[in-house]
Amino acid sequence: MPIAVAGAGYVGLTTAACLCELGHQVTLLEIDVERVARLKRGESPIFEPGLDALLQRHLGRALKVTTDLSEALDGAEMLIACVGTPPTASGAPNLSALWRLLGDLRRQRRSGELTVVVKSTVPPGTNRRAQQRLGAGFAVVSNPEFLREGTAIHDFFHPDRIVVGAAQPAAARQVAALYRGIDAPVVVTGWEEAELIKYASNAFLAVKLSFTNEVAAVADSLGADGLTVLRGVGLDRRIGPHFLAPGPGYGGSCLPKDLAALRWTARRRRVRLDLLPAAERANRRQRQRMLAKLGPVAGKRIAVWGLAFKAGTDDVRESPALEIIPALLAQGARVVAHDPEARRTFAAALTGAGVQREGSASASTGVPPSGAGLPGGFTLVDEMWEAARGADALLVLTEWPEYAAAPPEAIRTALAGDLVVDARNLFDPEAMAAAGLRYRGVGRDRGFHPPA
Ligand code: UDX
Repeated sequence: MPIAVAGAGYVGLTTAACLCELGHQVTLLEIDVERVARLKRGESPIFEPGLDALLQRHLGRALKVTTDLSEALDGAEMLIACVGTPPTASGAPNLSALWRLLGDLRRQRRSGELTVVVKSTVPPGTNRRAQQRLGAGFAVVSNPEFLREGTAIHDFFHPDRIVVGAAQPAAARQVAALYRGIDAPVVVTGWEEAELIKYASNAFLAVKLSFTNEVAAVADSLGADGLTVLRGVGLDRRIGPHFLAPGPGYGGSCLPKDLAALRWTARRRRVRLDLLPAAERANRRQRQRMLAKLGPVAGKRIAVWGLAFKAGTDDVRESPALEIIPALLAQGARVVAHDPEARRTFAAALTGAGVQREGSASASTGVPPSGAGLPGGFTLVDEMWEAARGADALLVLTEWPEYAAAPPEAIRTALAGDLVVDARNLFDPEAMAAAGLRYRGVGRDRGFHPPA
């Protein structure tokens, strides 16, 4: 099926490339000229495992890229909107890119019916408004995405479900047919239901993680093994084993944003929610707990391994490192940090360069061209051992495999001090102790009492 995909961010690029893989003809519409030029050269503007290979396979064949809407719509039966909906201070997402796109569509479209699929994450009621704005000749369908960064391509082909929210059954069938060949239940429903499934799913995950982190904190205080506790909990089929790994608090572009947007939606409808604000508070406290595990840091040199909000991505949006590193610096520590992919995005975020990953044209690896603008006492290095060497303590914030593979003896030799705070539970506590290290995991920190 000939399809236009609007927005070459991480959702749009992944969707476009994977739809080509399913045999569709896709034209990717992107307004950023520089981004389009890079794509045409075969370079992916974002780091997402497997994406480069798919782009190279389809670019210039099943996949075309353009800045021109009429070219994108030429012959297309469907347009999939994957434009960004970044958060605002109120919690409401900023929908201006979506409204701009729909306005352009309305002006552009001549004859025949166009199905407009809203994949961007939007508050309940948005698809209905989109249909009202577009009017006759357009069928709006909500089709939220559930892609995790770092495994987006796998998630596209192996989804737990496909959600299609529509007012017209024919349009719903057309969108469901896009995914023919993928083995997953299809939930066909109305607009608001589809929109709310997306928000409720991410809010649930956030609540589950805050709960997990609180159980880990109690286990720490008891000297109990929190990971065994959570494994025992997760074996209950009603609870399930996923999203039970304690850590430094959830981050990323979706969980915090969608939880805030669901709170905003409820506020507008005068529905009081108690659980979601508590999950947000618990997440902030979890980051404080990681700091407390380091003890007093004034005058010390702290090595940080990991800046991305999770492994497999260069995304630092809402990353724990963005909160924890400035707090360490404010307490008088010197920080030497490393990340295999996210050094440039982190430097941009820290210096307030405002580089949003979705709009960033930066290379996916490599340190910033200079330390200019970085806060005093903070250094970014290219190599993980360079960060560890001579440090008083090591703080592990992202679960990159190369960190997990670091031999405890080598960590002991590199550090000047002996403290390792492992916010991702990458290491075996006994092996760390045997190497002469003081090891503090999350839910594996015998006798640690969280701050009041
Ligand atoms: C999430 C949703 O999973 C996805 O369905 C949605 O569409 C977009 O948002 P993503 O933000 O890429 O995906 O990351 P995810 O893998 O879900 O992790 C979210 C956060 O939770 C990360 O900070 C991660 O480190 C943390 N996490 C996850 C844990 O701390 N423990 C876990 O067990 C799982």
